[in-house]
Amino acid sequence: MTNILSFVSIKGGVGKTTLALETAVSLAKHFDKKVLLVDANFSAPNIGLYLDLTKDYVLQDALNGTLPQNAIYEAHGIDIIPSSMHYHKEIDPHKLKKILQKYKSRYDFIILDTSPNYEELKPIIAASDKIFLVTSPDHVTLHTTLKAARIAKEQKTPIEGIIINKIRSPKHEYNLKEIETLSEVPVLAKIKDHKKMAEALHSKTPISVLDELNTISKEIKNFAAAIAGSPKKEGWFQKLLPYKPFVPKEEVNRQFYSSQV
Ligand SMILES: Nc1ncnc2c1ncn2[C@@H]1O[C@H](COP(=O)(O)OP(=O)(O)OP(=O)(O)O)[C@@H](O)[C@H]1O
Ligand SMILES: [Mg+2]
Repeated sequence: MTNILSFVSIKGGVGKTTLALETAVSLAKHFDKKVLLVDANFSAPNIGLYLDLTKDYVLQDALNGTLPQNAIYEAHGIDIIPSSMHYHKEIDPHKLKKILQKYKSRYDFIILDTSPNYEELKPIIAASDKIFLVTSPDHVTLHTTLKAARIAKEQKTPIEGIIINKIRSPKHEYNLKEIETLSEVPVLAKIKDHKKMAEALHSKTPISVLDELNTISKEIKNFAAAIAGSPKKEGWFQKLLPYKPFVPKEEVNRQFYSSQV
């Protein structure tokens, strides 16, 4: 059964769009999954900008019942329904759940990019089968991220895990155990703040495509493997150049997650 997965936080700029996009691309590229990426950030959508998509039709058209059958875009092996920042007609975000049900049979995964706005987030979480929390390891971001967790708990949408993004200075930041204790959610990936992301953004290309061997691409691939329920595959070059985790003493909980899939 298709899973509708969303990446959420009530904090702007933590990496929701980046992780939704990279996970979608990685699932398609490395695990042959058929993936639909939906930009459900209605007020400040970014997927079109990240991928340089020229959009005639957007998710808001679908919420108004006017999206033509084939108005789905393709890039880097995934299908995409973008949103528009300049859509002026009234929309009803509560229709999202029903609309996504129509696409479920065509895809292995539907991945939602989400808004950091508390009210906008509620119908998106209601449309999701499972959510991933995204946080950076500082107390300000973690506490706002946990607010998103409360919406999911209220709506009884399962929280699958938490992704720590933009790790900059482990000495001055929460570690994995502290984040798991405070959130009561397993950490499924930890991703360094990496300057190569600026190049990916500038070239309008996901890092997983631009630089497969980059530490972020590898961590995303391992995370995608857990979602896909596939064992981690390693090429001969990866064995020669073993991946050194950024924070070596802490293990993420992917094994636990994989066993649940
Ligand atoms: N691990 C990382 N290392 C360096 N830069 C990153 C990383 N993850 C994301 N970024 C950058 O941070 C910025 C914000 O990322 P992104 O747009 O994914 O955040 P967001 O949570 O979706 O924000 P918003 O709430 O505004 O939609 C972008 O410039 C992105 O390239
Ligand atoms: Mg975003």
